[in-house]
Amino acid sequence: MRTSLVLLACVGFVQSLGRVPLSRLPSVRSRLRAANQLDEFLREHQPDAFSRRYAQCYPAAQHYLRMDGRSTERLYNFMDAQFFGQISLGKPEQNFTVVFDTGSTDLWVPSSYCVSQACAMHHKFKAFESSSYAHDGRVFGIHYGSGHLLGVMAKEELKVGSVTVQNQVFGEAVYEPGFAFVLAQFDGVLGLGFPQLAEELGSPVFDSMIEQGLLDEPVFSFYLKNNGSSFGGELLFGGVDETRFVSPINWVPVTQKGYWQIRLDVVKVQGALSFCYHSTQSCQAVVDTGTSLIGGPARDVLLLQQYIGATPTAVGEYLVDCVRISSLPVVSFLINNVEYSLTGEQYIRRETLNNKEICFSGFQSIDVPSPVGPVWILGDVFLSQFYSIYDRGQNRVGLAHLSEK
Ligand SMILES: *[C@@H]1O[C@H](CO)[C@@H](O)[C@H](O)[C@H]1NC(C)=O
Ligand SMILES: *[C@@H]1O[C@H](CO)[C@@H](O)[C@H](O)[C@H]1NC(C)=O
Repeated sequence: MRTSLVLLACVGFVQSLGRVPLSRLPSVRSRLRAANQLDEFLREHQPDAFSRRYAQCYPAAQHYLRMDGRSTERLYNFMDAQFFGQISLGKPEQNFTVVFDTGSTDLWVPSSYCVSQACAMHHKFKAFESSSYAHDGRVFGIHYGSGHLLGVMAKEELKVGSVTVQNQVFGEAVYEPGFAFVLAQFDGVLGLGFPQLAEELGSPVFDSMIEQGLLDEPVFSFYLKNNGSSFGGELLFGGVDETRFVSPINWVPVTQKGYWQIRLDVVKVQGALSFCYHSTQSCQAVVDTGTSLIGGPARDVLLLQQYIGATPTAVGEYLVDCVRISSLPVVSFLINNVEYSLTGEQYIRRETLNNKEICFSGFQSIDVPSPVGPVWILGDVFLSQFYSIYDRGQNRVGLAHLSEK
């Protein structure tokens, strides 16, 4: 037994858990706010909000770029991304900071050939410096609120934590639209959604890990910490970290492969059935690490803002009086017979601006067009209160309470 284990180790077939520390950094939104530029930015980008909302009326990206498939409206708004981790591509390693995003499926980083302002501000991949680079040359485009990100595809050796993936397909972005990418604290995105959601061709990162036998189990888990420290948590490939949560894990079947989409039975406010409870209109939700707030259909979320007494600013953010936080109602999500409750302390975001604390509602109206929408989006405000597990073996999401430490 012992010998064979050693042998296996020598040949390099030992499967492992890949731990990726995540850091928490200020979002583009809070950086703009601190620089007193948020209002102006949002005013100038109203057309983006408009085109997002009416995305279905516009020609989809793949009409001129992709060969098959369907259009996807990105669920997240990069402006709010806060949790980042490191990957490397190539030999020798070139490091990049990425958003690990369960709401998309592609991997891309800026190309050294990109001349967009956003690329100038970030690490760029230099193909000519890597001995493991393989050219592909096909073009891809990903639609974001601010326009289409364009790039060419290639294959590289990818390192994520202790996991090394060979011949990983990824995109080298040569054009990054809009100003939101300029201020972003990340270079690129590593998508962890289902292959059905991919705009690029070839195996997505997590599928490659499974196909190349790099993991104990076809599972990854997120531990997101929302306590204001820069330690943002951990992403674990290949299993779960039992020290981070208390049993049981409540498993929820994925209803639609693409996003990590599940059924949301009811949303309660202070115990009263408030949304999704009509038998004819039970809701769907996607579990999305790339969205920072909790999103929902505008007609429901506007009411929810009223229930918690949040009032809109001129640019459509919702504020509550910070002294009221402890008396705010509990908002609960009933999922597969288990209730996930958030207190005001948990769903309100605090930010300090000019030495003054301001408090934002953690709920946001996001009308996702059909066929995916209407859908609720359980972003980081939700996911930093629960341990979340993404199981491709059984196509299910696991949620568990965090351990107290
Ligand atoms: C990339 O990151 C690793 C791990 O943090 C570090 O050891 C290495 O020096 C970095 N490489 C470069 C070229 O910065
Ligand atoms: C936040 O979490 C980190 C890591 O667990 C811990 O070191 C730190 O003390 C925590 N900070 C607060 C304010 O709870």
